Amino acid sequence: MARPDVQPVCRGPDQMTHVLMLLSSPRGKASLSTRVANALADRLTLRPGATLKVRDLAAETLPHINPAYVVGRMLAPEKRTAAQLEAVALAETLVAELEAADVLIIAASMINFAPSSTLKAWIDHIVWPGRTMLPTPEGPRGLIKGKKVFVVAASGGIYSSGPMAANDMLVPYLKQILGFIGITDIETIRAEAQSFGPDKAAQGAAAALEQVAVVA
Ligand SMILES: Cc1cc2nc3c(=O)[nH]c(=O)nc-3n(C[C@H](O)[C@H](O)[C@H](O)COP(=O)(O)O)c2cc1C
Repeated sequence: MARPDVQPVCRGPDQMTHVLMLLSSPRGKASLSTRVANALADRLTLRPGATLKVRDLAAETLPHINPAYVVGRMLAPEKRTAAQLEAVALAETLVAELEAADVLIIAASMINFAPSSTLKAWIDHIVWPGRTMLPTPEGPRGLIKGKKVFVVAASGGIYSSGPMAANDMLVPYLKQILGFIGITDIETIRAEAQSFGPDKAAQGAAAALEQVAVVA
């Protein structure tokens, strides 16, 4: 059933869909966010010519950002040291992957109420003043435009409503930081209640997979 508030992902006949999928669960094959994100990617890439680039941030962790990166990224390339060039090159690769995508799927496990540190490391690399956002006197201006994002948020508890909603530092944070770099077309798929016993966990997973069929 089509939902009026859901923007279609379909491209025109001559346009291909390029999907970038970020996986970030520390739970390996047991991950529900990965399972749901994979189901979504399968549907989004059904069209001929569609492409999928997967970055498993938990399997291949990015370094934490460091002085070489935070100083080097603000310097002209010819002024960078070898360590700064290397650190900035990694961030540039990640930004280029984001820029090349029409659709971004973020499989996000709730870890201590927030994104996993592996996903946070990706964010720390791609939020880059002068490259993905501009500080201006009127406030920050995001430079990443025209993306559709699906956040698949898996959690032990329930945060979409109810008494724990205010403790959700995952979905609101992802919306805020994506908005900061210019991305505002964000659809959230919740896979909740994974710590509430097998029945509720299965219901939470089924609801998420049903939502995949609705949005894509
Ligand atoms: C280290 C750790 C911390 C967690 N912290 C929270 C939490 O703060 N709130 C919550 O609702 N669930 C929490 N969980 C449960 C996970 O969010 C849940 O297992 C979810 O399914 C993880 O996503 P995944 O299935 O993609 O791995 C935590 C799980 C782990 C392993």
